[in-house]
Amino acid sequence: MSYIALARKYRPSTFDELIGQEDTTTSLKNAIRDGKVSHAYLFTGARGVGKTSAARILAKALNCLNPQGSNPCNECEHCREITDGAAIDVLEIDGASNRGIDEIRELNETVKFFPVKYRWKIVIVDEVHMLTKEASNALLKTLEEPPEYVKFIFATTDAHKVLPTVLSRCQKYDFQRIPFEKLTAALVKIFVSEHIEYEEDAVKRIALNSEGCFRDALSFSDQMIAYSGGKLSTAVVDEVLGTSTNPLINGLYAAVISEDTAQLDEFITKICGMGISLQFATERMIKYTRDLLLLVQGAASVYKELTADEQTFYKSLSSNVSVERLYALFQLLQNLYGSVRYSTYSRYAFEFGMFKAASLSRIVPLPVVNVAQGMAQPAPPVATKKPMLNDTATTSTAPTSEKKNLADARERIEQFKADMLGRTEVQQLIKLFDIDVEREVKVVEREH
Ligand SMILES: Nc1ncnc2c1ncn2[C@@H]1O[C@H](COP(=O)(O)OP(=O)(O)O)[C@@H](O)[C@H]1O
Ligand SMILES: [Mg+2]
Ligand SMILES: [Zn+2]
Repeated sequence: MSYIALARKYRPSTFDELIGQEDTTTSLKNAIRDGKVSHAYLFTGARGVGKTSAARILAKALNCLNPQGSNPCNECEHCREITDGAAIDVLEIDGASNRGIDEIRELNETVKFFPVKYRWKIVIVDEVHMLTKEASNALLKTLEEPPEYVKFIFATTDAHKVLPTVLSRCQKYDFQRIPFEKLTAALVKIFVSEHIEYEEDAVKRIALNSEGCFRDALSFSDQMIAYSGGKLSTAVVDEVLGTSTNPLINGLYAAVISEDTAQLDEFITKICGMGISLQFATERMIKYTRDLLLLVQGAASVYKELTADEQTFYKSLSSNVSVERLYALFQLLQNLYGSVRYSTYSRYAFEFGMFKAASLSRIVPLPVVNVAQGMAQPAPPVATKKPMLNDTATTSTAPTSEKKNLADARERIEQFKADMLGRTEVQQLIKLFDIDVEREVKVVEREH
């Protein structure tokens, strides 16, 4: 039995099967129901989020012999022909490979004739932004006065490259990246119906790695299934994504957070010795810092993205880290990423960066916020009580009048500001990171 790629086998065939594009599909369904389908559409959005699928569904819905509400039946002769790419009245053109004026002139000629078989003649142009300027202008002629039996559907990943004159003649729909939770749920559904064994963490990794692009998630799953003999295990996914080197990078990161320079040295030596990409290691650490920071700030949504191992990992780090240090660490790692990537001495830059990262608490000696506490509960307490600048000084939070609290807070902030700015190490930090103090203070004030 030949294997059909998941992305082909699971192409949505009704509007209701398109995941994460509810705004668009609702509008299209209403337009079909009310007989108000525009003569030209432009579907924009990232790759692999359902633009081509939607165009074909629309083509079918308009020509279906037995429509189910606004959805096509997918069983009648017309639907089947369109699905098979054998419909004489549906023209699919790839703007990337047919970009010239001749192709569009030919298209304009074809469009002049009535549909041979269907109610509507449908012209789908994929990657429409790739058409040459001349070709776009030729297309425009037909778009200005389209025959009443023609519907145009354009798709593009780069809406800003489409000629404004073409844009203005289309109804535009923006396709969204598929939200993490919807994507994982959809993947699981597919794996179940394919009888593929999967580990939940593997699915999470795949969904995160595909950044909301459904096709990428499915193609990657295909590869993993082939690679590991029909099963999706986190270990295999990690190995292929390069995240299998995580234990070492985790160790390094833990050493940074606990500022254990002996451990740090050991892990740097191991990482360099194994030839792990330093750029990749830095990238991972940026992600860790981002996750930790969001967790500390009480962003519960991050929690769902984490695998079980990551949850344990972050819990173990949480008691050693403050929000302020994470801000500084994030900035440091981002700068380091640039150095590691472009420097001729990337290893030295990396080592230097790591030791600097492991000394931050000496220059950012600010209160510790315990993430573990927040992670133990669904609604983290840090979310209701945002860490105040001078958390340690906050003894009484009993509500008096709101005004008084505000005045108190202002006073405390002023006091704190004066204290902080008076410290040499803070001045060093400001210089080191080129911090615009006034701006930062304003941001903090707004947040609190
Ligand atoms: N919104 C979606 N819902 C369900 N599956 C999707 C969605 N978007 C993409 N896919 C999957 O990815 C494949 C490619 O989608 P496609 O419509 O060609 O994306 P695009 O044209 O935006 O690049 C589909 O066959 C389907 O398996
Ligand atoms: Mg497409
Ligand atoms: Zn049909």
